[in-house]
Amino acid sequence: MKLTLLAFLAIVCLSCNQKKDTSNYYQEQHRPQFHFSPEKGWMNDPNGLVYYEGEYHLFYQYYPDSTVWGPMHWGHAVSKDLTIWEHLPIALYPDSLGYIFSGSIVIDENNTAGFQTGKEKPLVAIFTIHDMVKEKAGRKDKESQGIAYSLDKGRSWTKYNKNPVLPNKGDTDFRDPKVFWHEPTKHWVMPLAVGQHLEIFTSSNLKDWTKTGEFGQKDGSHGGVWECPDIISLKTNEGIEKWILIQNIGRGAVNGGSGTQYFVGNFDGKTFINDNSPETKLWLDYGADNYAGVTWFNAPNNEKLFIGWMSNWDDYANKVPTSTWRSAMTVPRKLSLIQTKEGYRLAQMPVAQLEKLRLSKTEIPKQTIKNTTLIDDKSVLKELDLSFDLSTSSATELGFVLSNSKNEKVIFGYDKASKQIFIDRTNAGKADFSKLFAKKHFAPFANAKELTIKALIDNSSLEVFVNGGSVALTDLFFPNEDYTRLEVYSIGGNAELTSGSIYPLKSIWKK
Ligand code: FRU
Repeated sequence: MKLTLLAFLAIVCLSCNQKKDTSNYYQEQHRPQFHFSPEKGWMNDPNGLVYYEGEYHLFYQYYPDSTVWGPMHWGHAVSKDLTIWEHLPIALYPDSLGYIFSGSIVIDENNTAGFQTGKEKPLVAIFTIHDMVKEKAGRKDKESQGIAYSLDKGRSWTKYNKNPVLPNKGDTDFRDPKVFWHEPTKHWVMPLAVGQHLEIFTSSNLKDWTKTGEFGQKDGSHGGVWECPDIISLKTNEGIEKWILIQNIGRGAVNGGSGTQYFVGNFDGKTFINDNSPETKLWLDYGADNYAGVTWFNAPNNEKLFIGWMSNWDDYANKVPTSTWRSAMTVPRKLSLIQTKEGYRLAQMPVAQLEKLRLSKTEIPKQTIKNTTLIDDKSVLKELDLSFDLSTSSATELGFVLSNSKNEKVIFGYDKASKQIFIDRTNAGKADFSKLFAKKHFAPFANAKELTIKALIDNSSLEVFVNGGSVALTDLFFPNEDYTRLEVYSIGGNAELTSGSIYPLKSIWKK
């Protein structure tokens, strides 16, 4: 007995001594500190976003063995507050049927698929199976939809033995099912990206699917393949309900490469009906680095919470200069529906829970901005949350400059003359990995006298939200040396800064 105890203590001590040194954890150059990124390897789209029993699940397209895209798995993390993430083991591995491409997860509350055995509600994942054997043989029908289920809160998964549940009849691109429950018609709905349009399938049991609608052959932007759709409903503050189709597009987005367009309209349980003319193009984010984003199933209070992959598939995703890992997600954002002169539009703001990460506040006093005013040049400006209320007064342009001693800089602001919000990363640091990177990105923004700018900066990313998130831009940057200087400027006249605050943010990865 004594011996066993001694042996046990010896093992415990041995493992104490071997305890991993975590001081370098998530400390690589350019590593985001409050955004989700995988410990190592390649990540792309968010998948299987579901809120269940107090946990937000974030699954993601993952290739653990390299920092470039490869055989797709579903990586997995959970969070209680959308802020601090815990890594969990890989949830789905590629198998003899193929790679596991993007998809969604639903809670099968009424056991419609029949997977429930005990008390725990089944989580059912619906994903695209991408068959590489068929791809190599040049066959069009390489993508089909499969399902898997978990009876232990997403910790382990069993693939359905009769996959695929939705075979392919010959469509080259046939993927990214984002399933939801439509209460009025009491069935499951699966929006699916097919080539450059959307197809809608419905089911009573998640296993047998019938096509009920098509949308978008002639609507919106068609610069590339449509991917990762999502259909959600939102209400304005006045209680007007609209259905929104979020539709990612692989190429030809507003500021180059991949991006996220959306449509405002109606959904009758079978198909999506656009409120606007087919020519209307609406963009969820005007930066270059917000792609494949979708929303959480079952978020509390029926909120529509969105997260995107912070990169650009078409332009440089496989090439950005990070070391042991590649790519991060955007911060989670709460979507809302607003009424504008042009019609109903999406707005978005970072989820409020992120405010928990705020450290000491610096208040910027009310002042008139003439030319350039220094806000900070003492600290290393790596993880920041900025909020400013400004009025353009006589200025024709106003904005902020983040820079370092090498004169590398990111500029963001409002150009009143051209009526555009912008991020300028033409001189932001490393750019030799892609000719398409060093650019300025614009978002239309008419007639603003009063401006509220919120910006989140995290080592290699900038997310800008203007006037309550009616405009958002997300851009990456890779400075050779940390930015240490923050200035606010005006051109062509004065601007009034009515209030401002800056908070450094705590790292979510510090152990
Ligand atoms: C979007 C996408 C999806 C696909 C997945 C593959 O980035 O191309 O259409 O399912 O990535 O990793």
